[in-house]
Amino acid sequence: MLEASARLRPWPWRTTRDPWAVLVSEVMLQQTQAARVVGPYGRFLDRFPTPAACAAASPAEVLRCWAGLGYNRRALALQRAAVRIVDEHGGQVPSDVAALEGLPGVGAYTARAVLCFAFGQPVGVVDTNVRRVLQRAWLGRAVPPRTLQAEADRLVPAERAWDYHQALMDLGAQTCTSRRPRCAACPLAGLCRWRAAGHRGPDPGGGMA
Ligand code: ADE
Repeated sequence: MLEASARLRPWPWRTTRDPWAVLVSEVMLQQTQAARVVGPYGRFLDRFPTPAACAAASPAEVLRCWAGLGYNRRALALQRAAVRIVDEHGGQVPSDVAALEGLPGVGAYTARAVLCFAFGQPVGVVDTNVRRVLQRAWLGRAVPPRTLQAEADRLVPAERAWDYHQALMDLGAQTCTSRRPRCAACPLAGLCRWRAAGHRGPDPGGGMA
């Protein structure tokens, strides 16, 4: 089932499980709002549908296809990653965490996003939105990154890992927002520890944002 559910926001990267397309989207989504990624994402993949196509291009052309996103170092790192994928992984994006984290520009978050969204592995994918939802609703407090990753890994439903994360990302972006959480509209309000502790509406701060 490759079509995004009607209730998820219909981002184009939600209609693919191709590992290269997922990697490209996640690098673009680092530091750039999703709505601004849509156009460049389509153009980039039209021109560079595979790691080999990207690896063979000139850096200048890669940067031209990156136009509108900013943070050009990300584009150059992505191309270096494409070269390594071709040279060291037979042109296929690797499916283990150490190999992914060894690629230029790929950190803990991006590696896990590729593992889960492309390869279906039940690993926790913790971006700022997921972190906020988990810390508020599930943990009820801010925790150190390693504790959070361990909890996130433990919570992933193995059979629905993709749907679960996309839903958490939308919940964090639209409902469990940093400053003005819409608790009245939240499907997790009944189990939310942060709410049970008496918090409502605008976030008073304290590391949970
Ligand atoms: N930010 C990072 N990954 C995302 C995704 N899959 N959907 C929406 N926003 C995202």
